[in-house]
This record gives sequence, structure tokens and C-alpha cells, in this order.
Amino acid sequence: MNTTNDQNEEIDFSKAEAILDEYEGVHGALIPVLQKIQGAYGYLQEPVINLVAERMNMSASEIVGVATFYAQFHLKPRGVHIIKVCCGTACHVKGAPNIVGKFSEVLDVPVGSTTEDKLFTLEEVACIGACSLAPVAMIDEDVHGKLGPDNVPSIVEEVK
Ligand code: FES
Repeated sequence: MNTTNDQNEEIDFSKAEAILDEYEGVHGALIPVLQKIQGAYGYLQEPVINLVAERMNMSASEIVGVATFYAQFHLKPRGVHIIKVCCGTACHVKGAPNIVGKFSEVLDVPVGSTTEDKLFTLEEVACIGACSLAPVAMIDEDVHGKLGPDNVPSIVEEVK
């Protein structure tokens, strides 16, 4: 069975079917099923959630409820690079809102969104434990500290 998602891309359900077959009848399998499905498709897209709901005798809204509870799950496509700007207290007082605003301006996307070329996703996160370097952003696995809005364009260029 094939259909298209909200990006108008065709979805191949065979990977989801295989994962669901593997966990058929396993009690409490929803989280590992969603983890594997997200690993296979990059995010939890609506048509695949509907398939999981049907196969696991749940409603799609129950599954969305679980997925939105855990930060590890994503209901929208994400970029190749994930920019997480810390908005914890130490970073906030040292100007995190200006850093977020500058990333948003340079990438031309609001927080929580992915650029049109799917290269970057911009997110705000709570303290990442590097308060002495505030304000801080993580780009993929790299921590960038003591940021000012002026650093942002060159950081984005570097990552590109
Ligand atoms: S508040 Fe930003 S790293 Fe702790």
C-alpha cells in the first residue's frame, strides 16, 4: 500500500509493516515501535501513525498523545542539521532571545520549524548543562558558547 504524505512524497509502508510484524502481540510495544518507525522514516507522519493505530488497536489520537509527551518523537520533518538554542535561565539572562531571533532571521524560519531546503531545524531547548558558556546553542553534537547575534551568520555558513 502506498500513499503520499503532507510533503506530497510517496510513502512506502513496507518498512512500517515489517516493524509492526516484529512487535505483533508484544505487550507495551508502542514506544519501541514508534522509535523504530521514526528511525526508518525520519519522523512520525500521519499516514504511518494511522497504520500503527490500526495495527495496534489504538486510536491515532492516543498515539499522537504519546508521541507529543516524549521529546524524542517528532511529528514534523526535521532538517539535516538541528540547531538547539538554550533558553534556560542562565542563557536567557545573557541574551538567548536575541540569539534565537538571529537564527530565525538568518534561516528565515520561525522557531520549531525546518528550512525549505530541509537543511536546518531551529528549536529552543531547556538548559543543556553548559551554563558557564551562556548563551549557548548546540548544532548537531557541537556546543557553541558565549554567542552573540553577530556570530550567528558565520556559524550557519560554517555548518552548510
Ligand atoms: S541555561 Fe543554557 S546551558 Fe544552562
